[in-house]
Amino acid sequence: MPTFSRSSAILCLLLALPAAFLLAALANGETWRFAIRPSGDLAAKLLVVTLSISPLGALFPQRRWTAWLMSRRRIFGLSAFFYALLHLAVFCASIGRLDWILQGMAFASMWTGWIAFGLLAAVASISNAVSKARLGRWWKRIQRLAYPATALTLAHWLLLTASPWEALGHVAPVVALWVAVAARRLSSAPPTAINRTR
Ligand code: HEM
Repeated sequence: MPTFSRSSAILCLLLALPAAFLLAALANGETWRFAIRPSGDLAAKLLVVTLSISPLGALFPQRRWTAWLMSRRRIFGLSAFFYALLHLAVFCASIGRLDWILQGMAFASMWTGWIAFGLLAAVASISNAVSKARLGRWWKRIQRLAYPATALTLAHWLLLTASPWEALGHVAPVVALWVAVAARRLSSAPPTAINRTR
């Protein structure tokens, strides 16, 4: 039976803290609008952390800290989804009318967010052991939808902000890590291939 370690429980509590602060502020009379940006920001940050874990594991194999991160990737990914859900909920509450929400979907700044959310929902819905066993090789393929979701989140952010560097700076670490992984694989591939043919 899978165990939920004490450090995983502490991690969940830490990741839930910003949501607790946001909900407390809303309960104390802050406007719905106040919570839109911080919740979106947290969702994007957690998505970037989640997507950085695999390349970190490839670059620093057999390290305790990467093993720790790898075994908690699901927690980071699910918390990214829950902050995106909170972001969507406070956005809908702040607009307050279904017809306006639907009309807003015509704008690129909005449909990029909606599609990103749909992809994250698909990934989150199969982030459990039963789905992993049932879906076989499709499980990993569906999990990879997190990458287009991140690209759409970046587009959503860029279309809504006057300072693109903040948005680009968030995605840069994931891109840099995958470039480093690709560079390492390229530099180590030829000798391995030659060795195999000998
Ligand atoms: C589900 C559909 C979505 C809607 C309707 C939506 C709506 C919005 C709106 C209205 C803003 C502007 C807030 C402001 O400037 O005050 C915003 C900003 C933002 N959203 Fe979304 N969003 C959606 C999905 C997402 C998703 C899935 C993510 C990330 C995973 C995300 C991340 C962000 C970020 C990072 C910002 C900018 C925050 C900042 O400027 O610091 N959004 N969103």
